Amino acid sequence: MSGAGPGMASSDGKKTFRIGMLGFGTVGAGVAQIVLHSQPSLKDKTGIDIRLHKIAVRDRKKRRAVSIDPGLFTADGEEVVNDPEVDIVVEVIGGIEPARGLLLKALANGKAVVTANKALLACHGRELFEAALAHETSIGFEASVCGGIPVIGALRDGLVANRIETIHGILNGTTNYILTRMVEDKAPYAQCLYEAQSKGYAEADPSTDVKGLDAAHKLTLLSNLAFHSVFDISEVHAEGIDRIALEDVRYAADLGYAVKLLAIAKRRNPGADPEDFPGGLELRVHPTLIPFSHPLANVRDVFNAALIRGDATGEVMLYGRGAGMMPTGSAIVADIMDAARGSARQTFTKLQFFQNPREDLPVIPPEKMRSRYYVRFNVDDRPGVMGKVATVLGSHGVSIASVIQKEPHETGHVPIVMLSHVTIEERFQAARAEIEELPFVRKPSAFYRVED
Ligand code: NAP
Ligand code: HSE
Repeated sequence: MSGAGPGMASSDGKKTFRIGMLGFGTVGAGVAQIVLHSQPSLKDKTGIDIRLHKIAVRDRKKRRAVSIDPGLFTADGEEVVNDPEVDIVVEVIGGIEPARGLLLKALANGKAVVTANKALLACHGRELFEAALAHETSIGFEASVCGGIPVIGALRDGLVANRIETIHGILNGTTNYILTRMVEDKAPYAQCLYEAQSKGYAEADPSTDVKGLDAAHKLTLLSNLAFHSVFDISEVHAEGIDRIALEDVRYAADLGYAVKLLAIAKRRNPGADPEDFPGGLELRVHPTLIPFSHPLANVRDVFNAALIRGDATGEVMLYGRGAGMMPTGSAIVADIMDAARGSARQTFTKLQFFQNPREDLPVIPPEKMRSRYYVRFNVDDRPGVMGKVATVLGSHGVSIASVIQKEPHETGHVPIVMLSHVTIEERFQAARAEIEELPFVRKPSAFYRVED
């Protein structure tokens, strides 16, 4: 793509940019709808005219959500990335291959790339970013995290003056939709998942959403940007929503807490405790109890939010629709305009994204994470039980903040629900395992981490 500077069009006078698309599913159709309907207003705002030029799909005969000249479709992605008339390649196929190979070719051909593919960037970002730098072009990826919310731009530009301390995010729309429907409408899990799929929110393999991997991909990308490092997806401790019991959601509510799938990146200073890890970054995704007064507690349905704490700004919260055709299409079109104006290439070369070796910010291993815990044990209803459970917790250095004993189940056992003070994961898990082996305790227990 030819170089361009800021202003009403590219600096070399180029005003028309041709888009080659890889994929035309939920997100691809959203991009096309925005391009087709907003072409005049985009031209008014920027002086730049963007045109859909070629579109690769798997099945050329499929009915499409947006009506498009059938002559634009091809079943061969190579035709898109090798077309000399294509300026900007938009990848919305998803998955690793053929997306990775096609984007490497597009970059080698000097094309600007825009992608919504967080799995690809979280796993092969370094290779792709190096290729973009080597070929003096750019990769826009705003759509890869939080759909229509400009969180990548906020971390890259708006918050650049800050040392980022923490990120707490609801980064997956599908799981937030499922949790909201299950808790508020008492709808069964399978029905909620089906609805999320029908609305186009879920990944091709929805287990990626419900097992927390999609949020982990997004947390990796945000952390690379926020902490100027290179994190690997394998360093994110990820748990999904598939083990949440509605019984615990009810008990948590009695205690004043909501349950959300949170993605958390947290700088931790070295602790005074000799068993503590000597500082670093916690990277984790798991169902989390947060007080109803927490800013993320009321983020419902497909909405996402990222609560970012910078040393200068304090907390900043970005909120909006985290998935779906039009919000995600909006983020992609923003990146297309950025590439056409030439600003993408200018910022990209200075971004240091995926380039820094990490020396000063080790990822804290999961067993050394620090948290408060909610735990439920199902016990026989007899005297002395509560005291024995408390003794085991105490012997592992786990201090109890509050306890409630619920009404007996029809099976005869009694749920005991406890909230701990902050402790180290391995201590909590050792205590929980020991308590589960006591003769009056019925396995399994349930536990959730708590963020206040
Ligand atoms: P999708 O609806 O499944 O669409 C995938 C598209 O890729 C389809 O048009 C499919 O063609 C095409 N395709 C698949 N294999 C291909 C191949 N080998 N060659 C050419 N085309 C191929 O997926 P999506 O929901 O739009 O998601 C696309 C990407 O955006 C993913 O990376 C996803 O993680 C990301 N994303 C999605 C959302 C969302 O809300 N859905 C939000 C943010 C980011 P056919 O139509 O012919 O089958
Ligand atoms: N499957 C993803 C979600 C799409 O539900 O959040 C948006 O990235």
